Amino acid sequence: MRADAAGTVRDALIAAGARGLLVADENCPPEFLAGLPPGTRVLSNRWDLCVAARDRGLEVSFSDFELPATADLELIACRVPKERAVVRHLINQAWHALAPGGRLLLWGGKHTGIKTHGKEAATAWGGAPEVRKLGTDYLAVATRTGATLHSLDDADYEALRPLLAYGGRVLFTKPGLFGWDQIDPGSALLAAQLPHVFADGPAPGTLLDLGCGYGYLSVAAHAHGAGAITATDTCAAALLACAKNFAAHGIAGEVVPSDCAEGIAECFDLVLCNPPFHRGFAADQELCARFFRAAAGHLHRAGRALFVTHRVVPAATLAQEVFRSCEQIAATPSFQVHLLQGPRRAPLT
Ligand SMILES: C[S@@+](CC[C@H](N)C(=O)[O-])C[C@H]1O[C@@H](n2cnc3c(N)ncnc32)[C@H](O)[C@@H]1O
Repeated sequence: MRADAAGTVRDALIAAGARGLLVADENCPPEFLAGLPPGTRVLSNRWDLCVAARDRGLEVSFSDFELPATADLELIACRVPKERAVVRHLINQAWHALAPGGRLLLWGGKHTGIKTHGKEAATAWGGAPEVRKLGTDYLAVATRTGATLHSLDDADYEALRPLLAYGGRVLFTKPGLFGWDQIDPGSALLAAQLPHVFADGPAPGTLLDLGCGYGYLSVAAHAHGAGAITATDTCAAALLACAKNFAAHGIAGEVVPSDCAEGIAECFDLVLCNPPFHRGFAADQELCARFFRAAAGHLHRAGRALFVTHRVVPAATLAQEVFRSCEQIAATPSFQVHLLQGPRRAPLT
């Protein structure tokens, strides 16, 4: 039987043992983690993947692609991330983490830009591009041969930058984050509903920003008088940016890593959410449905949730499974905002 790319990478990681490192972002399939032996080193920018990897006995670290600059690894492997800046940052970082002769393996489908990434890695590291098709995916291999790294332009990936304005103040963000270089029109539509929703009574004393990204919805809610805010996301870069925005906007809230609010024991007066409906390159309606369930599970009995979704998402159907009341309060040709009340799931506290 012909080897596939994922199987080849798995075998190489197993052979490298403690001198191998898997870098896993949202494009790394859970079944790939499941095929690795306990003790395999995994670095992930996703909290959910870290939890899954830890549960399998893997050696996990959670960071925003901060590879160890130890120059002693034999192998680094990664299924290709979606953002070019992230891939370039990874290629630059991998050079510092690998020992001379060490290899970086990238794998992914044709549409992931893998051939270009393979060529760029070779340019940066001073070798010949090595990209081949194995099964349905492609495998790009770069070997750390040269003595000098010709750093790729990764758009200064590590830096949080003040790109956007809200309420006269900047919002810090960076490449790779959802809607990082513009305020998402869906999130802006949700934020525009806050004055009407808060006008019904006192501003919410406690609020959960579920899938907070760089914290745009928290900042908007704070500006309209929301009380204690807890913001949560599974993405390390999002959490870093959100914490920075909380500090910049004087929000005395908490920013916590979690997988869809798992492990957050508190219940809230209001949940704000612009749920993801893609995981990496693929649409994922079940992921979106989890956010509706998580919102219902984290509300007080009289609490409310505001969700904005793309019009292609069957939001009302998903919401009605876990909320007694679901009212569409705003819509554009692309987005819809629903106000949800009466969580059906038993509250957590
Ligand atoms: C559509 S974006 C919305 C971001 C932000 N709330 C805004 O309005 O700009 C969805 C967010 O959900 C996060 N996310 C994806 N899967 C998640 C999970 N399993 N648990 C928590 N957050 C997740 C993503 O990292 C992303 O920041």
